[in-house]
Amino acid sequence: MMWLTTAAWLPMLLGSANAAQPYSSWMTDSMIAHGVSATRWYTEATFYRGVEAAHNISGLRTYQAFLASQIDSILAPNGSFRSWDFQDHQLDNIRIGSAILYLYTLDPQPKYRAAADFLYDQLVHHQKRTPSGGFWHKDPKYPNQMWLDGLFMAGPFSAAYVALFFPPDNATAAWDDIVLQFDLTEKHCRDSKTGMLRHGYDESLKAVWADKATGASPHVWIRAQGWYLMALADVLDWFPREYAAARGKLLGYFLDLARAVMAAQDAKTGGWWLVMDAPYPGQKGNYIESSGTAMYTYSLLKAVRMGYYADAAERDVFATAAQRAYGLMVDRFVATNGTKGTLNWEGTVRVGSLDAAGDFKYYTGIPVVENSLIGVGPFILASAEMEAYKARNT
Ligand SMILES: *[C@@H]1O[C@H](CO)[C@@H](O)[C@H](O)[C@H]1NC(C)=O
Ligand SMILES: *[C@@H]1O[C@H](CO)[C@@H](O)[C@H](O)[C@H]1NC(C)=O
Ligand SMILES: *[C@@H]1O[C@H](CO)[C@@H](O)[C@H](O)[C@H]1NC(C)=O
Ligand SMILES: *[C@@H]1O[C@H](CO)[C@@H](O)[C@H](O)[C@H]1NC(C)=O
Repeated sequence: MMWLTTAAWLPMLLGSANAAQPYSSWMTDSMIAHGVSATRWYTEATFYRGVEAAHNISGLRTYQAFLASQIDSILAPNGSFRSWDFQDHQLDNIRIGSAILYLYTLDPQPKYRAAADFLYDQLVHHQKRTPSGGFWHKDPKYPNQMWLDGLFMAGPFSAAYVALFFPPDNATAAWDDIVLQFDLTEKHCRDSKTGMLRHGYDESLKAVWADKATGASPHVWIRAQGWYLMALADVLDWFPREYAAARGKLLGYFLDLARAVMAAQDAKTGGWWLVMDAPYPGQKGNYIESSGTAMYTYSLLKAVRMGYYADAAERDVFATAAQRAYGLMVDRFVATNGTKGTLNWEGTVRVGSLDAAGDFKYYTGIPVVENSLIGVGPFILASAEMEAYKARNT
């Protein structure tokens, strides 16, 4: 071990239970050491969200430099994207905007502003909408379909954009449009029995999986609902307090869903099942999925920090649930790579879409990936929240 830096080997020596290096930076450093391709795709963009949290909690300028070098390599000097397909309108393309705005707030270069302007324009002027005004998830492939995933891909970016750049006296319509996306999802996807949200809906009722009355897909898929809960938690960071009624509504959506997610937490492990609606938890083929578990853990811990709970008792319920889930992640999903004291992230479902039948067999047939970047962003976000929580409570 002589050739390793102290920072790299000390945690291995001490074991994960009392690692000297916090997981937020350890996992970030590991992925950077393994290599992160500089694309504008949402997998990398979601990892960058984790890097933002690692940067925020550590204050390490190297993380800002890493983000800048990744983003700078996908932008021309004038802020246009080096690669862009103007026929491809999908919300996944917008996710990178959050990282660009994060850099902009630290270092307000015109190219970051130009790139953000472009993405916002692509979203509000070029993304097709359902008759009720909801963004199609992807045009032309998924007409009139809203997926929960899309709220995370576009929601926090557009909220940050409006908060940073719209004149406050002319922002009402833009905020209303952001709220509308959540309203439509709630109206069509919420299962009134469990309070959980199905993966998506088709307003035209044409998709093979669409419920004939609501248009909703049949199941609650851990990752889609995780994206959605994170989207609410992150949009609330930017949503103005002056719009008290709308803000209260979003907070209500967050709390209703957080409570439903708590009720679905697996009693034995503390994690959450890939397909979350009854009777599927525990069934053959279903499993406790890591990336979605990280999304819920992050959201619950953030709620504790931000005061998104009814009372102190509920705050403690959220914190206890999140601590159990976090313990599971560290025990089961964080693995040592064997190279220079770096970590791997395991147990994440590879993808999931409403491209197919959207049934239990479809979701459980998708391969699990080991040693993946998918899910790492939410784990780093959860880790930074956990580290901040411990710092506040010791
Ligand atoms: C360690 O990470 C590298 C880069 O991601 C990967 O190629 C390698 O297979 C990993 N090794 C193990 C033992 O997981
Ligand atoms: C982390 O975020 C908080 C809240 O936005 C901010 O006040 C603080 O300055 C940030 N810290 C660093 C090191 O960026
Ligand atoms: C920005 O730069 C790119 C690549 O150099 C170029 O193709 C594009 O026309 C420029 N855009 C503007 C508005 O100048
Ligand atoms: C007001 O906001 C709308 C979009 O909601 C925009 O088109 C318009 O240019 C804005 N006007 C001013 C004066 O900023």
